[in-house]
Amino acid sequence: MKQYEIKTHTTEETMRIAEKLAVLLRPGDVITLQGGLGAGKTTFTKGLGIGLGVKRTINSPTFTIVKEYMGELPLYHMDVYRLEESEEDIGFDEYFNGDGISVVEWPQFIKPFLPNVRLDIQLTIIKNEERKITLYPKGHYFEQICEELIR
Ligand SMILES: Nc1ncnc2c1ncn2[C@@H]1O[C@H](COP(=O)(O)OP(=O)(O)OP(=O)(O)O)[C@@H](O)[C@H]1O
Ligand SMILES: [Mg+2]
Repeated sequence: MKQYEIKTHTTEETMRIAEKLAVLLRPGDVITLQGGLGAGKTTFTKGLGIGLGVKRTINSPTFTIVKEYMGELPLYHMDVYRLEESEEDIGFDEYFNGDGISVVEWPQFIKPFLPNVRLDIQLTIIKNEERKITLYPKGHYFEQICEELIR
């Protein structure tokens, strides 16, 4: 599969890319966000929320695992950091096969539950406000979406 690299220089720029991605998505799509602390995973999710027309403020869901937001489509924002090693199934299938967009921070902790078709995104801090966003589409469907996004 191809991979795509985008550099951003501000928080807003990262959010705008996420916003642009959001409008290309369809119900049941799954996005994973990897990257260290402060890389921009939640920032990216906020941008997705804007693109999906979510009015509420999206915060880090660290203490709840899943937060649901209503937009044009529901947005399921998951931070599965707390499931580390337990690999507990909290009913992921219902989210991943549901009628909303699922966004997973720290997906490495729920690998067995992730669908094969998904968009993996890696955020890397370059320096200060510079970030590298690498898109790893899994499946032809998401490769098309990436092509559209970078156009
Ligand atoms: N180019 C950029 N893209 C995204 N965020 C940026 C950028 N430049 C600076 N930032 C800042 O970096 C921080 C990223 O925080 P954010 O909560 O999104 O990270 P995170 O990856 O979700 O971290 P955590 O693992 O703690 O949940 C924010 O304060 C944001 O404003
Ligand atoms: Mg976060």
